[in-house]
Amino acid sequence: METLLLNENQLDVAAELIIKGEVVGIPTETVYGLGADASDENAVRKIFSAKGRPADNPLIVHLADFSEAVRYTSYIPELAHKLAEKFCPGALTMVLPKNDRIPLVTSGGLDTVGIRVPSHPVMHRIIELSGKPIAAPSANISGYPSPTSASHVMRDMNGRISAVVDGGQSEYGVESTVISFEDESTVRILRPGCVTEKMLMTVCGNVIVDKAVLSGLEKNEKASSPGMKYRHYSPKADIIMVESTLESFTDYVGRHYGDNVYSLIFDGDSDNFPYRHMTYGANSIQQAHQIFRKLRELDDLNAVRVYVRSPEPVGVGLAVYNRLIRAAGFEVVRL
Ligand code: TXA
Ligand code: MG
Repeated sequence: METLLLNENQLDVAAELIIKGEVVGIPTETVYGLGADASDENAVRKIFSAKGRPADNPLIVHLADFSEAVRYTSYIPELAHKLAEKFCPGALTMVLPKNDRIPLVTSGGLDTVGIRVPSHPVMHRIIELSGKPIAAPSANISGYPSPTSASHVMRDMNGRISAVVDGGQSEYGVESTVISFEDESTVRILRPGCVTEKMLMTVCGNVIVDKAVLSGLEKNEKASSPGMKYRHYSPKADIIMVESTLESFTDYVGRHYGDNVYSLIFDGDSDNFPYRHMTYGANSIQQAHQIFRKLRELDDLNAVRVYVRSPEPVGVGLAVYNRLIRAAGFEVVRL
């Protein structure tokens, strides 16, 4: 299959492909998604096979407006409406009980569905033009860093899907915050993103950060979200997170240095850093924006091992930290 590269003036072509049951790479404000009609089992199966994704890992369903969530869910708590008022459209996915309009293939066999209303005008327009709920996981090969540009998607998906729409660089760079509902005033963060714990606290009485956000699951421990179980975001290089001051970090890298060993450090660190390195921003918003691109670039440089300066796991930094510990397979050095 030849994968078409479409521009922002060809959204009717993208919508037509979605209606026909094909898979299209679509830009969103978080990362690029691999979109297909969420109500069409065969179309959704194509997403799983293009990504090589395990069948029990559910897909997020993207809608043009939160008011449409009633069509695909059996119950919406009052708190979800309040959150939608504040954060939709945007980088928030709410896990709700699904109804029969969402096939089990889409929900990975679960009786719930993640609903998101993306703010990116291209994704929004394709949902409207197609008139379909769009199931879309991140548009990477399963396990690889999420794509934040059309060229990343092309790299992973060329020949596997019908088209990719080029909508420039993703604004946020990390995927949406995924939450579930515990009781009428409490939500649980299953995956942190740019809608932070503090932002959620402006609407919710209580916000729980799931244990798996900051650490690996123990053997036989049940995942609150299937995505927690799988190795994620990993480039070919071995990633090692280092939580320390710049001084101890520099010393540590010096003692573990060698051919094709890189460091991924903060912008401000690089002036006197004597070893091979790349930088990934000066604050957590920049780090979120750049992290997946930098992990892909390190592969292009044939890095074999990468020592990463750990972000503070607060605010948007929690999202960056969460992606990095997974990329590192939970290999964290604390100095
Ligand atoms: O920003 C995003 O969320 C991007 C863009 C394309 O919208 N999408 C995305 O999808 O990151 P994906 O499939 O790569 O990640 C979805 C995560 C997975 O970890 C999955 O297990 C979890 O959300 N998830 C989806 N539906 C769920 C459900 N019903 N219950 C629990 N977790 C769910
Ligand atoms: Mg993903």
